[in-house]
Amino acid sequence: MPASILNRRREEFPTLASGIHLLSHSLGPMPRAARESMLAYCEAWEQHTNEDAWANAWWELSQRVGDQIAQIIGGLPGSVQIQPNASIALASVASCFDFATGKRNKVVTSALDFPSMEYVWEAQRGLGANIEIVASANGISIPPEQILAAIDETTALVALSHTSFRSSYRVDARAIVERAHQVGASVLLDVYQSAGAMELDANGWGVDFLIGGTIKWLCGGPACGYLYVRPDLQRDLRPRLTGWVAHDAPFEFAHAPMRYAKSVRRFAQGTPSIPALYSALPGLQIILDTGIETITGESQRRTEMMMEFALERGWEINTPRGVNERGGSVMIGVHDGPAMVERLAERKVFVDSRPGVGLRMSPHFFNTDEEVREALRILQDLMP
Ligand SMILES: Cc1ncc(COP(=O)(O)O)c(C=O)c1O
Repeated sequence: MPASILNRRREEFPTLASGIHLLSHSLGPMPRAARESMLAYCEAWEQHTNEDAWANAWWELSQRVGDQIAQIIGGLPGSVQIQPNASIALASVASCFDFATGKRNKVVTSALDFPSMEYVWEAQRGLGANIEIVASANGISIPPEQILAAIDETTALVALSHTSFRSSYRVDARAIVERAHQVGASVLLDVYQSAGAMELDANGWGVDFLIGGTIKWLCGGPACGYLYVRPDLQRDLRPRLTGWVAHDAPFEFAHAPMRYAKSVRRFAQGTPSIPALYSALPGLQIILDTGIETITGESQRRTEMMMEFALERGWEINTPRGVNERGGSVMIGVHDGPAMVERLAERKVFVDSRPGVGLRMSPHFFNTDEEVREALRILQDLMP
């Protein structure tokens, strides 16, 4: 779709009036409709005098939001369970494995993943897991063959960021799943930095698990994580991180032994965060209406535009150049990241920075081309 006729739905995001928002890797702008959705939640909460709140709407809400997310990540209905956050989603998957028995106890992860990944796997060492963290020589990317070489017959799980929060490096999901499945290993991809920014194909890849959350590219509120589990794998798994909502008949309040739900709800724990679900609904709908294919095209076009601008000026780009090797962000090396973030904010350009990579800048579908160019011009003014 030509950029000129794309509906960027800017009037639906009051936040965009404050300046140039290039922060979708961190905190997406709030849709106007999220306020109404949260008020609807307050009204429902105020009116309910008993458990009918669950019967009327709240019980189904997790599934409704989960199915919207499934659509965005290329999964089938019934493949996504909402989680308190992505870290818990990861811990839920970890709790499905038994690393102490047998030879298959290796987890392959990488140095470009979000820290929760390392922390959760580190904690599994005591339970018998052998953790291999594939290094990144340049702190930006990892040659695909190095990741593939780490996957062997002792590997239980390959758990990686699909798109790195640090450099926006994107792994080849299909190749990793193919290699892992060849040797009998499972694959978990953290798609927090991909879902909503680019097309994903959970079902087509045959990936076993995806984790993420709504607050960044999906324009939702905080504390709405999610876990995708490959439909034909769900019933084989018994997460030890569990609770009453994961029971087949939760309202029987039965004693143990646990009888896991026969649906993806078996990966739930306790009471869902209902306000988080209300906060996520409008953003998910906007993403679905805009269309992931359109969003992907815009992302690739504008990240390319930003990189060309940076290259022409000899700036340091800490994001892979190839369109198939990067996500929706461009990282630009600057001398003092936090100071530059502040100076840009004074000029109403909102970005952030991370140690080692510098500025993180992320155009999303709601940004105009003029905004992207203006942000770069302002950055040029501020560069030494
Ligand atoms: C790639 C990635 N994974 C995980 C997280 C953390 O998710 P949560 O706070 O939901 O555990 C983040 C950022 O917050 C992230 O960028």
